[in-house]
Amino acid sequence: MPELLSPAFIEALREAVTADHVHRDHERRTAYGHDETEDLSFPPDVVVRPRTTAEVAAVVRLCGQYQVPITPIGARTGLSGGALSVHGGVGLALDRMNTILDIDERNLQVTVEPGVITQMLQEAVAAKQLYYAPDPSSRGSCTIGGNLAENAGGPRAVKYGVTRDFVLNLEVVLPSGEVMWTGANTLKNATGYDLTRLIVGSEGTLAIITKAVLRLIPLPRENRLMLVPFRNARKACEAVSAVFRAGITPSAMEFMERDAIDWTLKYVTDVTIAVPHDVQAHLLVEVDGNDPDALMKDCEAIMTVMEAHECGEVLFAETTLEKDGLWRMRRRVGEAVKSNSVYKEEDTVVPRYELPRLLEGVKEIGNRHGFRSVCYGHAGDGNLHVNIIKGELSDHAWEHELPKAIREIFELTVSLGGTISGEHGIGLVQRPYMDIAFSPVQLDLMRRIKQVFDPKGIMNPGKVLP
Ligand code: LAC
Ligand code: ZN
Repeated sequence: MPELLSPAFIEALREAVTADHVHRDHERRTAYGHDETEDLSFPPDVVVRPRTTAEVAAVVRLCGQYQVPITPIGARTGLSGGALSVHGGVGLALDRMNTILDIDERNLQVTVEPGVITQMLQEAVAAKQLYYAPDPSSRGSCTIGGNLAENAGGPRAVKYGVTRDFVLNLEVVLPSGEVMWTGANTLKNATGYDLTRLIVGSEGTLAIITKAVLRLIPLPRENRLMLVPFRNARKACEAVSAVFRAGITPSAMEFMERDAIDWTLKYVTDVTIAVPHDVQAHLLVEVDGNDPDALMKDCEAIMTVMEAHECGEVLFAETTLEKDGLWRMRRRVGEAVKSNSVYKEEDTVVPRYELPRLLEGVKEIGNRHGFRSVCYGHAGDGNLHVNIIKGELSDHAWEHELPKAIREIFELTVSLGGTISGEHGIGLVQRPYMDIAFSPVQLDLMRRIKQVFDPKGIMNPGKVLP
């Protein structure tokens, strides 16, 4: 049993949220001590599960008073270790704050608590013909609070934007324990500094989000989905930017290398696709809208671009069942690849025209350092997930040599005009690479912002800033 926390502190926590929601048992601490980032495990000393903003504020005030680190925890699907209690202390689980408070059909807005599961929100608003587009692969289990903290993306970001683009206003608890709203429930806002956008993506290092007002759009009535094979992965990447230059904005434009598909088809047993032996990569392309004729024209224009890039025989998903199957397969690529080997996942992103150069550069770096990678991701956003496979690499090479190769990959992304995370965040594991993305002046400014919000350094310490 950890001795870090005084009995008086624990007693005060019990008063704040009732004893039923303060957990010190090994099982609960272990469960809240990991996310989906590699096999990392950092259990908090105590798990606290508040139900209201007032309870969150009371816990935060106690942490300030007793100088105890506090780490907000969502559904633990994160891929950069943002929710890991690396310095122990309080793991503040927001899973009991899981109510959709109001769907405002007059203004196309929804107010939610942070523990609402993303897919539940999507389904609740879809029942009213409304659309919340951010669509991370983990949508069936991840929560809005974590999506906000990491500025999650997913396939639909290419047309509709990432989580940040759907946020109008946030209720937050500051490290002082004060509660405030960051902005206004308006689509436009030219009033002072944009605290809302600052908090989104700050990975729980500045404040704890306790309510969010999100923007909705009308639900598109129709979509078309096609799976396009290529014998040459470079050509697939080149086709991506060509589609946009042809005047089409797909609602999804996903890239999967051969291995990504093969490993996923083995893992997801209820989807069958015949992949000819000479196919190197696929694009999964979706268009959506309300006018079937317009969608047909979009598909024809996309086909023209794909053929100009030497695609193979295109598979059109005809039924909802087929579409669901393809998406189910795509969403599980990450899991499938990881189930194969020890791995590290990097979340590179470049301006989309540079995607072919990024892919080739990653492979070249892998060849030089002796590792294999499986790449897939949101090609329309220039966002390539690079899964580095441990395979036959020695533990020594994995621990000591690989970070140099990862550094080279990130230097490449930055040299191509990109950056080191598109949607998974920096959290714990990408922190050592922040100097590649930012100058000392930029990092110093970020440190000073952190200091202003959190002078005692209690809020998710050990994350984001190197
Ligand atoms: C995906 C997650 C890993 O794209 O970001 O599936
Ligand atoms: Zn992704």
